[in-house]
Amino acid sequence: MDFKLSDEQKMIQNMARDFAQKEVAPKAMELDHKSEFPAIHLKKMAELGLMGMMVPTEFGGSGLDAVSYVLALEEISAACASTAVTMSVNNSLYCGPIVKFGTQAQKEKYVTPFASGQKLGAYALSEPGTGSDAANQKTTAKKVGNKWILNGRKNFITNGPNADAMVVYAMNDPEKKHKGISCFIVEKNFPGFSVGKVEKKLGICASSTSEIVLDNCEVPEENVLGEIGKGFTIAMDTLDNGRIGIATQAVGIARAALEQATSYSKVREAFGQAISEFQAIQHFIADMATQTDAARMLVWRAAWMKDAGLNINREAAMAKLFASEVCGFVTNKAVQIHGGYGYIKEYPVERLFRDAKITEIYEGTSEIQRLVIARSVLKG
Ligand code: CAA
Repeated sequence: MDFKLSDEQKMIQNMARDFAQKEVAPKAMELDHKSEFPAIHLKKMAELGLMGMMVPTEFGGSGLDAVSYVLALEEISAACASTAVTMSVNNSLYCGPIVKFGTQAQKEKYVTPFASGQKLGAYALSEPGTGSDAANQKTTAKKVGNKWILNGRKNFITNGPNADAMVVYAMNDPEKKHKGISCFIVEKNFPGFSVGKVEKKLGICASSTSEIVLDNCEVPEENVLGEIGKGFTIAMDTLDNGRIGIATQAVGIARAALEQATSYSKVREAFGQAISEFQAIQHFIADMATQTDAARMLVWRAAWMKDAGLNINREAAMAKLFASEVCGFVTNKAVQIHGGYGYIKEYPVERLFRDAKITEIYEGTSEIQRLVIARSVLKG
């Protein structure tokens, strides 16, 4: 087994680290406190090729492998989890399925400007009563002439208020249950499309999250992604890939918390010595470091398997489950090491602690990851 990164992968990691530490990290606290969308970073991220990393170069992307993607995304996540999820959704939840299931014309129109960072994409699956049970779509799609008419409400849509287009899932034949779900590429300026309530959140405050309202929204026939009735498969396949991104985000947040806690423990003194001299703190740090590394290994394995063209359903779920729960543990301990200072907004660990929680919820809760893993293991 070879854990050595290629020269190209190391170069991408260094490039992303340099950008993340010099430009993204210094702004993270301010953007979080103001709940300000990280638009200031998107142009530079596009120039660096970070918005469509795995998209072929002919469609405006960087044409890189999944390992390079997770290396870069970890760097952005360690600097600012809000910026990271904005990047991750555009890369894997929006560009990913159109590259995989789209027509040539759809790729040219709906991938090229998004992978090159002129536009931003989103993924609209969740609904007010349809989160974990994703097959229970209430948004409807009806064919009228040469258009599809969509009606319903999507919620918790990352990038929702800022997206130029999104992949939207809707039920066109309820009797067929999940086989009656289809996927549509919907532009923000299509008649009947509007952004609903913009959410205020516990963490990742600088990322944007909103409802999407579809009120007789008119979608041209050529904007059906894949085949009619195959939407649920597209949604699930996309989430397998997206979950590697959220697992990576969790590793990045955990790493940042470990780095903050380690530095703080060396300068903070108690009972006449740096607190890093105490075995209690050393045990925290040892567990934090070991678990973060173990989570990273699961992420790298899933990314490597994706690059090898293997089925990543189980491994992506394992990476997301483990990394998100590790992230919760590590950020909690980082606050504990900081004591009272960890609880106030002037210290980055307060933000990291809040940002960690969402990684156990979006793109499938930990309970859904366990369900996916158990089904896969039991199937053999
Ligand atoms: N890839 C391809 N096809 C898949 C698949 C996969 N990973 N998983 C399931 N399918 C197919 C199955 O083969 C089956 O197809 P057939 O009927 O043709 O055999 C079909 O889909 C139905 O599968 P299940 O019976 O397993 O479906 P289910 O109703 O039991 O649900 C579930 C499965 C895993 C619970 C799924 O509903 C799920 O993943 N739920 C969580 C949804 C989720 O993650 N939402 C996150 C929202 S997006 C978000 O958070 C983004 C953001 O903003 C950052």
